[in-house]
Amino acid sequence: MVVLSQKDTLPTLLLLGLLSVCCLAELQRFEHAAKPDGSLSFLVVGDWGRKGLYNQSHVALQMGIIGEKLDVDFVISTGDNFYDDGLTGETDPAFHESFSDIYTAPSLQKPWYTVLGNHDYRGDVEAQLSPTLAKMDHRWICLRSFILNAGPEMAEFFFVDTTPLVNKYFTNPGDSVYDWKGILPRKKYIQNLLSEVETGLRESTAKWKIVVGHHTIKSAGNHGNTDELNILLLPILEAYDVDFYINGHDHCLEHIISTESPIQFLTSGGGSKAWKNNIKPWNPREMKFYYDGQGFMSVEMTQTDVGFKFYDVFGNELHKWSTSKLLGSAM
Ligand SMILES: *[C@@H]1O[C@H](CO)[C@@H](O)[C@H](O)[C@H]1NC(C)=O
Ligand SMILES: [Zn+2]
Repeated sequence: MVVLSQKDTLPTLLLLGLLSVCCLAELQRFEHAAKPDGSLSFLVVGDWGRKGLYNQSHVALQMGIIGEKLDVDFVISTGDNFYDDGLTGETDPAFHESFSDIYTAPSLQKPWYTVLGNHDYRGDVEAQLSPTLAKMDHRWICLRSFILNAGPEMAEFFFVDTTPLVNKYFTNPGDSVYDWKGILPRKKYIQNLLSEVETGLRESTAKWKIVVGHHTIKSAGNHGNTDELNILLLPILEAYDVDFYINGHDHCLEHIISTESPIQFLTSGGGSKAWKNNIKPWNPREMKFYYDGQGFMSVEMTQTDVGFKFYDVFGNELHKWSTSKLLGSAM
């Protein structure tokens, strides 16, 4: 039986109606302990796998240095892991050439919590999700959608498989062939996914709620906003007080503060090829930072404070921002 509370939003009610009484599945969960002092730090990189080219190796080197300095607990990849067309299979050498042999610094030998991007869907998606890759490189943790509870109960990360939500890959794929195994029927996949994310967010007691997806919600970059995510995902994020939405897809570094919601929108898609020189006009009151080049992001957090920083290929700090929450509030 499904018990509804006043906290249920319209999307939940719609989804429950559509799903009727059947099985509300839950997202797979992972736990990651904070450091002994209760803090947590991690790096975020996106849009990277180009066999070291387009400054991927330079970004990797600086990630290793900053990773060491912050003693990072893990790395998050925002997707588009392997260009141009994902992996051809479990034995595709690109896995080593673009991942294992590139991010070699000792500080980066930590779990890499990874989502898929649209380019990953152009290859054998199930290869990236396969335990065979994790056996070859124990860092690799890639699922379509999942929850990471860090702390415990300090931060909860909701990794969302955003590619299936975007219409154009289905209606107008061009010359690209997408691997939709496991996604069809699409409507049901999306309904289940949104329902699972909403259930996870509703039940979360973590101090900080962070949602990670490949596609943008708000971005002034080459791809810009993703309409489907603004319509389907953003209302759920707003209903459950998500603190940060972190994405890749636009090959830049970007920080947008919405004037309409308390969510910070962070793009870390500078893992390799960048410099699109195509920036759309944006309300300067919302646009805190935009960098049209390569780099990555770090996050440091405790129960009460979060700060993030963006870096370029030289390890220069380009932008930083932080916020606090009183202990015991905003549960
Ligand atoms: C590598 O980074 C430098 C410094 O940001 C930049 O000038 C150069 O264009 C980048 N190279 C490529 C191929 O993007
Ligand atoms: Zn992409």
